[in-house]
Amino acid sequence: MLVSMKAILDDANKNNYGVMAMNSINIEMVRGGIMAAEEEHSPIIIQFGPGQMKNHAHMEEMLPLVKELAARVHVPVALNLDHGSDFHVLTDCINAGFTNVMFDGSSLPYEENVRRSAMISALAHGMGCSVEGELGHVGQAAASDDTDVDLYTNPDQAADFVNRTGVDALAVAIGTAHGAYPKGKIPKLDFERLRLLKETLKMPLVLHGGSGSGEENLKQAVAGGINKINVATDAFEAAKKGMLDALKEDPGMDYLHLCMAAEESVKQFVKAYMKVIGSSGRYIYGEAVSTSRE
Ligand code: 13P
Repeated sequence: MLVSMKAILDDANKNNYGVMAMNSINIEMVRGGIMAAEEEHSPIIIQFGPGQMKNHAHMEEMLPLVKELAARVHVPVALNLDHGSDFHVLTDCINAGFTNVMFDGSSLPYEENVRRSAMISALAHGMGCSVEGELGHVGQAAASDDTDVDLYTNPDQAADFVNRTGVDALAVAIGTAHGAYPKGKIPKLDFERLRLLKETLKMPLVLHGGSGSGEENLKQAVAGGINKINVATDAFEAAKKGMLDALKEDPGMDYLHLCMAAEESVKQFVKAYMKVIGSSGRYIYGEAVSTSRE
């Protein structure tokens, strides 16, 4: 069932677990993710970034696919615009029926981030769509932004930000970064900052740059109050690995079976991830989650 991302994250916040938000670009990833959720009795968030939608996963084609698959399963599925910044893309997604949009104003001056986040919140909420904001800035692993403490989220400023914008979830910078880390590196997360953020905000918190963070970090982040974990790079790698492994076994494999191998690989990857972040088994008895977008 397609539900508000707020409904999924409020339950995760109340019951102290994490939910995977997987960037997806095709039917193999969307179906692999949603079927993994069904088998794990877990909620899942499917998300598309503006670049992903522009280049390949066009909104007009992906939206009916997500709606159809979500309607087929018995666990909550949310559809999120990841890293929205363009006003037209944001409003198009809200109008089209995304159940959450992220407005990423994290590179803007603070007051401008507040102003635009508040405007998007008011618009989205009026349409029954929830909103994720970002304060501090989760940068790029390739640029070592994960170690730049100047980019980390300040808990007092975060309280002001949430009060003035009305966002439903907040992405925080505590030591992760987007993309693959240099080989062998596991990021060092600032768990004390996370503790302060959770104590201050008491709301669903989001960890961007979930890929390559390491199982122990993920478990500790969830225990410290992270409720949504964004995963792109590792999910794409899982799809690619499925195809490569299948080709290794049978270099003549046809495209149909390669796509099936990619989907199965994504599904197994997502199922394992859900067990680590504690979302498995949360919806065995159809725990009450709003089926509307509010
Ligand atoms: P990774 O590619 O590092 O998993 O980051 C994904 C992300 O945070 C999307 O918003």
